[in-house]
Amino acid sequence: LAAEKQGFKHFMLKEIFEQPRAVRDTLIGRLPQTRADADALDFGNLAGLDLATLAERNKITIVACGTSWHAALAGKYLIEQLARLPVEVDLASEFRYREPIVREGDLVLAISQSGETADTKAALQEAQRLGAVGLAICNVVDSSIARAADHVLYTHAGPEISVASTKAFTTQLTMLTMLAVHFGRQTGALADARAGALLDGLREMPVAIDAVLGVQAAIKIIARRWVKARDWLYVGRGLSFPVALEGALKLKEISYVHAEGYASGEMKHGPIALIDESVPVVVLALEGPGYHKTLSNLEEVRSRGAKIIAVATAGDDQIGDVADDVILVPKVDPFLQPILASVPLQLLAYHVADLKGTDVDQPRNLAKSVTVE
Ligand code: G6P
Repeated sequence: LAAEKQGFKHFMLKEIFEQPRAVRDTLIGRLPQTRADADALDFGNLAGLDLATLAERNKITIVACGTSWHAALAGKYLIEQLARLPVEVDLASEFRYREPIVREGDLVLAISQSGETADTKAALQEAQRLGAVGLAICNVVDSSIARAADHVLYTHAGPEISVASTKAFTTQLTMLTMLAVHFGRQTGALADARAGALLDGLREMPVAIDAVLGVQAAIKIIARRWVKARDWLYVGRGLSFPVALEGALKLKEISYVHAEGYASGEMKHGPIALIDESVPVVVLALEGPGYHKTLSNLEEVRSRGAKIIAVATAGDDQIGDVADDVILVPKVDPFLQPILASVPLQLLAYHVADLKGTDVDQPRNLAKSVTVE
């Protein structure tokens, strides 16, 4: 077992550090490594999916559970903004029992690392029964969901042993980003230059992730400072919202500390009541369209005594004035930020849990894949 961990203390840490390779493997086969045109992505014919009709009178529904559901939420933001196709996201366990409205020609996209989650499989099959084309994003090859779908896109992250999902999540985000760009080119919503820039950014992503892994020591110091905190908040807006949800989930799964993810704009509708100087607030404050709004949300919580841990863009010279701790990540296109910004939050959760001495790879009460309802 020790050999399988390749010198890492836990599988989770090993898998966090595998992400540059994992993301590269997700890109390979779909995205030519050399600079090519904006239509370079290869997705085959996706089970004959007719995007023109879909855009006119159908919709996409994404179903998933847990971490994969957070990827699904990011997928909605990506596909709607880059391809202008309507996307609904649902928890698989809700979707299957709420008499969902699905029309002939809809697309259902099931996301599952294991490909064995019972609720996700049932949701996919229910949508297919109602006339949707079923597409799956899975990591495990030939898994039940992969087999049930009309077409499957494999992430190729390699086996994920740690119960807490890390590389499976960032590779799902990578696949969804490529898919959104591909759809955007097909619908005509995404201009040549924008698509080209996003594809270049994806090619550079493994190197950017490497740079984030390089600041592990600084993240460990932050973890040590906050290891005794009993409640944490994670906030972000836009594409950083699912990243905040996932950051909070990682911490609660492995450290047994209460953590909540929130959309920044919702803070004042409840969670702000929790804030005092004992509650660290992790703020996704990356450069991009929501940045200035996020800074003002940050002031709101700071004036109530919150301690701020900000994830910000390298070169940001304002954030240090308002945050207690800052984790900088390389500047990338705002649509690519979720992949990159997830990594420091994985490391933060990992180090808090490790300092607490929990069973990081096998947290209590949790299973790697949930094959029962
Ligand atoms: C379990 C795991 C989670 C995972 C979820 C969905 O709860 O502990 O890490 O996100 O199942 O799993 P899937 O394999 O469908 O992505």
